[in-house]
Amino acid sequence: MQIAHTITDLRHALQGRGRPALVPTMGNLHDGHLALVHQARPLGDMLVTSIFVNRLQFLPGEDFDSYPRTLQADCERLEAAGCDVVFAPSESDLYPEPQTCTVQPDPALAGMLEGQFRPGFFTGVCTVVMKLFWCVFGGAPGTAVFGRKDYQQQLVIRQMVRQFALPVEIVTAPISRAPDGLALSSRNGYLSPAERTQAIELSRALHALAQAAMQPGADIPALEREAQAALAARGWKPDYLTVRDRATLRAPAPVQAGSLVALGAARLGTTRLIDNLEF
Ligand code: PAF
Repeated sequence: MQIAHTITDLRHALQGRGRPALVPTMGNLHDGHLALVHQARPLGDMLVTSIFVNRLQFLPGEDFDSYPRTLQADCERLEAAGCDVVFAPSESDLYPEPQTCTVQPDPALAGMLEGQFRPGFFTGVCTVVMKLFWCVFGGAPGTAVFGRKDYQQQLVIRQMVRQFALPVEIVTAPISRAPDGLALSSRNGYLSPAERTQAIELSRALHALAQAAMQPGADIPALEREAQAALAARGWKPDYLTVRDRATLRAPAPVQAGSLVALGAARLGTTRLIDNLEF
């Protein structure tokens, strides 16, 4: 496995090796990331995993500085998983000057939910993903794999790829969960032991919301308010718990099983967790 720390090194590592499949990450890899790597492996002639903690997608006061950086352990896990090239650029290599050219995603999709509570987040994500696509694929066809835990993110990226006619196939992988059902996330590492035990309540709340939404005559906005209040009563600070259309993330009309997703984001202590359930 080769480790490329610069764009130039990456281009050398990719030369003559066929069509790449890419798994973009911010590192601190867990089994969910490795599931993406395994899914991506057969989708190209070679597999590239990028590791870059992207300052542009963090708001002031968020965890950019404390985000765990575990490059050596990540590389060991990636080598064992059959990754061919790790692209781990420094900030000064990926952003040698202030990144004043940015990708502005459609506010109708990117301005709600995560975009409402983390303004600028999807601009940061789209800008770095566009740049990673250029570094890895150079405008040639390729495949990139993203996790469905970041449900809105994969929709925003799909729209960007479609509208800019990028020749990149976007593949999404199901959410990997711990045995108790908690969605795997690098941020789970911030939870205290007591919070870790409690963290499954977000997923349970989404299950209950989805089930209630499927009852005939369900008043979805009222159910969403109740779900948030119930989570708040258990000590969480919910940003949103909501039922949306899977393709547009708009309020569903009509409510039809198989086309919906319940999405939630809430803070437990100082840790912000997200999860979703398609139904
Ligand atoms: O999902 C993530 O880990 C990040 O948002 C991504 C896609 C790697 C961009 O920094």
